[in-house]
This record gives sequence, C-alpha cells and structure tokens, in this order.
Amino acid sequence: MSISRRQLLMGGAGLAGLAGLGAGVGQWLQRPSLDPRYAYQLSAAPLDLQLVPGFITQALGYGGQAPGQLLRAKQGERLRVRFTNQLEQATTIHWHGIRLPIEMDGVPYVSQLPMLPGETFDYDFVVPDAGSYWYHPHKASGEQLGRGLVGPLIVDEAEPTEFQHERVLVLKNWHIDEQGAFTDFSVPREAARGGTRGRLSTVNGQHLPSIDLPAGEIVRLRVLNLDNTVTYRLKLAGAESRIYALDGNPIVPVPFKEYWLGPGMRIDLAVRVPQNGAAVVLRDGLFRLADFVVHGSSTALVQAPWPRALPANPVAEPDLQRAERLTFNFEWVGGLSKSAGKTGDFSFWQVNGVAWDGNDRSCLDRPAARLRLGQSYIFEMRNLSQYQHPIHIHGMTFKVLSSNRKAITPYFTDTYLLGRNESAKVALVADNPGLWMFHCHVIDHMETGLMTAIEVA
Ligand code: C2O
Ligand code: CU
Ligand code: CU
Repeated sequence: MSISRRQLLMGGAGLAGLAGLGAGVGQWLQRPSLDPRYAYQLSAAPLDLQLVPGFITQALGYGGQAPGQLLRAKQGERLRVRFTNQLEQATTIHWHGIRLPIEMDGVPYVSQLPMLPGETFDYDFVVPDAGSYWYHPHKASGEQLGRGLVGPLIVDEAEPTEFQHERVLVLKNWHIDEQGAFTDFSVPREAARGGTRGRLSTVNGQHLPSIDLPAGEIVRLRVLNLDNTVTYRLKLAGAESRIYALDGNPIVPVPFKEYWLGPGMRIDLAVRVPQNGAAVVLRDGLFRLADFVVHGSSTALVQAPWPRALPANPVAEPDLQRAERLTFNFEWVGGLSKSAGKTGDFSFWQVNGVAWDGNDRSCLDRPAARLRLGQSYIFEMRNLSQYQHPIHIHGMTFKVLSSNRKAITPYFTDTYLLGRNESAKVALVADNPGLWMFHCHVIDHMETGLMTAIEVA
C-alpha cells in the first residue's frame, strides 16, 4: 500500500492537506489547458424531489440530480472531479469498477479521511477501462445511497465504436411511502434475509418513464442497477437485442433474453429499434420498468448489421496454472446478535467466519487475505445461505471461471451475483497494491457484516 494505515491515522491532517491543497490543486489552477471535457466540479447536497406527484421527497443528489449527474471519461485519460461535500454529514466518493490507485478509491480511513461537511477533495485518476461504471459514497451507505447518492460514470472507448446512439438507464427503487417520505433503509428482519427493498421503482428517477428511441436504428442501452437491494430480472420485450458488455467489460455479443442484474451490476445491450408504432418495454420479470417510444421513421432499406464487438479492456489474464487458491465463505450467522438498536448494531453475515463492523476501524487491520503483488489467484466463493449476494471487489477486475450452478463462458467483471448456495470460481492477477474492500453490494448485507478487505502488497 502506498499509504499505510498507520500513516493515515497518525498523519490524517497531513493527508487531507496533501489531497486538498497540494500538487493536484496547483496543477489544476495553473494548467487550464487540461481537457475540460473530463473535468467536473461536483457537489453532494440535499435535494427536493417529486417522486410521488404532489409530494416532496427530501433526497440527496450529486450535481443537483438524483440519480446523480452523468459523468464521462475517456479510456486511458484522466478524470478529474473536484468534489465538495454540501451534506450535513461526512461522505466520500467511491468509483465502482474503476481500477484506480487506492488513494482515489473513496473508502474512509483506507483511501482518505471521511470528508466533513464543507470539505473539498480532488479525485484525479486515469481510467484504464472503457464501459459503464458508477459512483457512490462509501460512508453511511444505506442512507446515502438510499436517498439518491448514486450516479453513472461512462468511460468512452479510446477508439470510436460502431454505436451511433446511446441511452443510459439508471435503475433504483426508492424507500418511500405514499407521501414520498423515506421509510427505513434497513429493517433488521429484512437485512437478515434478502435485504430491505424500496417501494417505488424508477428509471432515471422516474416511475415508469417513456424513453425515446430512434426508429430503425441500433441503440446502445446501458442499464445500471444502482439500487441498494433489488436484483432485477431484466427483459426487453418488443425488440431484438444483444448483450455487448457485462459490468463494463465487453463479451462476445450474444442474444439477450433475460439477465439477473444484481445491485451494483451493469449490462450494455444493443437494441435493434423497430419501425414506428411498435411497443418496446423494459421489464423486471412481470413488472414494467420503462416504456420506449419509437420516434421518426427509418429510411434504411436494408437492416443495419449489428455493431462489431467492443474491444477488450486491458485487464491482466490470470495465470491459472500457477494461481494460488483461496476460499471465501459467505454465510448467515443467524439470530439477532444484540437485542436492540439500529441495523448497524446487528451482524447477520460473515465472510470466512468474521462479521465486518463498519464502526470498528481495527477491522482494517484484519483483511481476509493478503495477496502478493503480481501473483495470480483463484477465489472459490461459496454462498452458504439461501439469499443471493452480488459480490464486488474494489481496485481489480476478476475473471469468472465456473459455477456449480450454471454454465459460464468466462468473462471479466467487478461484481458477481452469487446465487443461493452457489459456489463460483473467479480468478485475478493481484496487480494493484492497496487494501481493497470485498463485499456484498446488497447494502444492508454489507452493513450487517458481509464485507471484508483484501490486501495486495
Ligand atoms: Cu460499489 Cu464498495 O462498492
Ligand atoms: Cu466498488
Ligand atoms: Cu448479500
């Protein structure tokens, strides 16, 4: 790790000073020639939303929106975000799926100190991989993500692709009642099961929106599940479509029928938009999420061919022959471990027999594994419970190899939806030094124990 935990704790003020006032800012102010397309000033602040007609929901937003402002970066280039915390509580930004230096990963006490109200931090890193990513706090996650602090981050391919049209769809269920007031983000009896679900489903912050699509064209549909809890059983009715990427990483395109998109996961589809009048609907199982409205009319006499596959990201190929093997058991520990209090006081879940406690910083000294820089590893991930867990790693991308439940065509990802009682093997090269969080992305599972850290040094 480039910043040890000890340095971080002892020299906290120094680190904040370095990040906030040091080299980064100087460069920023003195070199206005840096590409302005990929530089943002972003803040997190309270935001009144009208999710239920006639009622105000006191949400939180990035850049005055919830879901947050869409950020774009170009593969191989720097993304710079000067971020100001205008909340009444501490926060950070984590860049989900981006392979970046640990100092930019947004985990409190690992990457940076929690940003207090009024503080500014410059996030500045190169984005090595193209695809659909997102950003969110890594502090008081149940509440902060639940109230709207989730935003899409799109990294454009270094070379142009054959896609001419794009739509970004952010899925989120809001934990609100009929009057738009927030309900509990985490209820112990739900946290101990599948997680606490919100009531109102939205796409881009609207319940059942109508989204325009150009007739006869092929559109890249980026669907991001930025919900705390829900796994969507995605289907698209009324149009032919193919999967081009999973969690940012390209695959060899295959026809799209149905896909279980867990919290934190993303899917890029190519949709062949029919001619005017056709009904195209995005569904979660039997439920409608969004209607597409086909506009214009195509002049093309012949159907356009499907776009070429997207170029692979530069992720290191694990050496399976020499890989070391590690096992991670994700299990339910049963019962309420304490008799009263908020969800944060409970632990229902464990990774390899240990429940992570977000309030106990000494957990950071006990990573579940210590990996050697440059070495390949195969993780056997075993779900010993009856609920599914989208297992996510920070800082690196792993390759899904196999599962005892289904046939897998190996692919790279940062989040794997581990089904009930499923065991899956994933592999990675430990090529990014740091202390990386490894957790379930059902937020109340994560906050009741289902998190650990993996050290690479
Ligand atoms: Cu979206 Cu710790 O991650
Ligand atoms: Cu992440
Ligand atoms: Cu989980």
